Amino acid sequence: MLCKHFSECGSCVLSTPYDEQVLLKTKSIADEFSDFFTGEIEVFKSEPVGYRTRAEFGLWHEGDSLSYTMHGVNGARVMIDECPKVDAKIFNLMPVLLEAIKSDNELKFKIFGVEFISTDNEIMAILLYHKKITHLSDKFKNLAKALNIKIVARSRGERLFAPESDDERLTQSLNIAGRQYVYKFSEGAFIQPNTKVNEMMVSWALSCVKMGAKDMLELYCGHGNFTLPLSTAFKNVLATEISKSSIKSAAINTELNGIANIKFIRMDADELISALRGDREFRRLEQVDLSAYEFSHVLLDPPRAGLSQSVREFVKSYDNIIYISCNPATLKRDLSVLCDTFYVGRFAFFDQFAHTHHAECGVCLRKRNKQ
Ligand SMILES: C[S@@+](CC[C@H](N)C(=O)[O-])C[C@H]1O[C@@H](n2cnc3c(N)ncnc32)[C@H](O)[C@@H]1O
Repeated sequence: MLCKHFSECGSCVLSTPYDEQVLLKTKSIADEFSDFFTGEIEVFKSEPVGYRTRAEFGLWHEGDSLSYTMHGVNGARVMIDECPKVDAKIFNLMPVLLEAIKSDNELKFKIFGVEFISTDNEIMAILLYHKKITHLSDKFKNLAKALNIKIVARSRGERLFAPESDDERLTQSLNIAGRQYVYKFSEGAFIQPNTKVNEMMVSWALSCVKMGAKDMLELYCGHGNFTLPLSTAFKNVLATEISKSSIKSAAINTELNGIANIKFIRMDADELISALRGDREFRRLEQVDLSAYEFSHVLLDPPRAGLSQSVREFVKSYDNIIYISCNPATLKRDLSVLCDTFYVGRFAFFDQFAHTHHAECGVCLRKRNKQ
């Protein structure tokens, strides 16, 4: 990647040409998972630059000046004035926002970080402060108006949003298998950071669903990123997630997209398993008849820690598992248990994080005695 901060900034570490990186990462994944899968890994590449639609930077004060910073290769702070891996909207906003903050002493004082999120037609800057900010509300409104962006300003115990009249959620559309889906999500909740690769992941997961699918159980559903498109392949879907704001967005998203066969419930994955086992009853499930579902597929997209022991054991009772993982180490640990009774039918590598060692994988598992 052509970046003047490469080798100093610790964010991107791979220096070989992009296509070579993909080959090397694919080979390393093939070696690491050779006990579970020896077929051809399906590879989904990123744009080599301009791919990140969510990015966070530190802000460093030195005298009157203010700079963006990243962690350097040796852990030291590195001043940067551009980042070619962020998408064009963020790339263009970064210098303009910095100048606007620099030119106003109150906006500048004790600001220590900024996060950017961009979607197809919106952009938000989340400004982080080490001071009280409520009295700056008008300044944030003026800045949001002047730059035509959404702003969230945060400090300990305080959160301001501007412009006041606007919807606080961001809107994103994805094209999956020829259909456009519209999603709303909150700035504090999880989102996939590489929108183009995300579209490929969701499309791939949908393509893993075999004919004759009945109902789907999804744990870790976020705001319904996979749930909405995959629901078209099932009779009914039960999708759960621990984050309150993601589940609220998911409910909004089913309505926005005119989808009626999904029930979203806010629940910890282990709690849901104890409810499915009949060990515990939950008020949140009062309106849900768990026994009416015939789950033919389970979709799992856990955080880096992977599956808990109880989730890992329980999902073995179903016939098909689609597992999306952002951490090869925990995926490998989980496969070593699941593959007692399952085989890996398809294995995909999604290069969400070009120029880094990170790898996102997708695995399609099928019960051994099923065709
Ligand atoms: C990798 S993200 C995937 C989200 C979603 N599938 C997507 O594509 O946007 C993992 C999700 O798991 C949720 N989560 C973390 N721990 C959880 C738990 N113990 N039970 C249920 N959900 C959990 C997080 O809030 C997050 O939304």
